[in-house]
Order: sequence, then C-alpha cells, then structure tokens
Amino acid sequence: MNTSQHITWHESEVKKEERQRRNDHKSVLIWFTGLSGSGKSTVSVVLEKALFQRQIHTYRLDGDNVRHGLNNNLGFSPEDRTENIRRIGEVGKLMVDAGLITVSAFISPYQADRDTVRSLLQKDEFIEVHTLCSLEECEARDPKGLYQKARSGEIAGFTGISAPYETPETPEIVIDTEKDSIEQSVNKIVNYLKLYQYI
Ligand code: ADX
Repeated sequence: MNTSQHITWHESEVKKEERQRRNDHKSVLIWFTGLSGSGKSTVSVVLEKALFQRQIHTYRLDGDNVRHGLNNNLGFSPEDRTENIRRIGEVGKLMVDAGLITVSAFISPYQADRDTVRSLLQKDEFIEVHTLCSLEECEARDPKGLYQKARSGEIAGFTGISAPYETPETPEIVIDTEKDSIEQSVNKIVNYLKLYQYI
C-alpha cells in the first residue's frame, strides 16, 4: 500500500549489475527464519565473518538489533511482526541493490510475510534458510531466559509457546542446528552460494 502521492522514481546512473561486477560477486538476501534460540543469529554472525574474510561485501541484519533502532516502535503482535518483516524486506532490498550479500536473522513466523519479502526481490535474490531446531531444544537452550518467562506468563504471545511459527514450505536451504555444528551449517550455505555462482 502506498500512502504517499505525487512521488516519482528517480533512476540512478549506477546499476546494481555494475556494482556486482565491480564487487566480483552477486548480491542476495540470505533470510534466516526459525524459532527464538534456534541459532539464526549465531550462524548468521559466523557466516557474515566467513564471507567478509573472502573479500565479499556483506552486512547482517538481526531481529534484536533492528528492534533497538529502525523498528523500536514495534512489538510482537501479528500486525507488528508483519510490519517488522516488511521493513526489513525493504531494507534488505536496498542492500541487495547496493551490491551486498545481506544476511538477515528474524523469526519471521508467518509464511505470507516471508513470501512478501521474496516477492520484493528477483527470483534468485532471496535465499530462505530454515534454521531447524525443535521447540524442546530451543527451550532447553533458552539463551535469553525468555522461554521460561513465556511459560510463566510473564511474556505473552511468545513464538512457539503462545504464538505460531509457520514452518517454511519451500526453503532453499535447511540447516539443522541440533545435528550439525555451526561450521557445518555455514559451510552448507557457502557451498550453496558457490554452486549457484553467487560467489
Ligand atoms: S519477528 O517475529 O518479528 O520476526 P524478531 O526476529 O524481530 O521477531 O525478534 C525476535 C526476538 O525478540 C527474539 O529472539 C527474542 O529475543 C525477542 N522477543 C521478545 N518478545 C518476543 C515474543 N513475544 N516472541 C518472540 N520473540 C520475542
């Protein structure tokens, strides 16, 4: 929905393809989705570093971080989560346009919201990474003590406990953080990027 009127798109003279050529790699939005505590942030941090060390232009967007700034006016109602993901999708699209391999880590519990982000980008510019980890394991890890708070009722609408998580239907990549090490998960993604000639 566009609420602004009388706005005109002004084309840049530097094209995305030119940026990609200069960078010597494609740009893409690598979208981690999964339960809180599933390992999205952990794996994405190591992936970002691995890409950076390969001279790749990269940047990471993380749920908790973005909620400190750009999205600090949003909570966790379904509507706010949708708006959270919409904004990140738009920021991710700008970063892809700027030539970056962008790594994002958000629960993004709704399939429709993830599909909205996918639809913002070209077909090969969105890689959905389902960070698979059972609720039992996420709850046992409970790195921020939030599951305990959700169980005791201190936090309402917590994903997996009192709010839904819709499993991705057709993710490009699934990483299993219960079975695989962080390095194995990162390697799986780097190998995908090589196989499809992003890098
Ligand atoms: S999303 O659902 O809108 O995609 P996002 O990834 O930005 O969520 O933020 C999730 C993080 O916020 C969690 O890792 C957790 O630290 C924190 N959090 C606080 N309240 C909730 C809640 N009700 N449900 C899920 N995560 C929450």
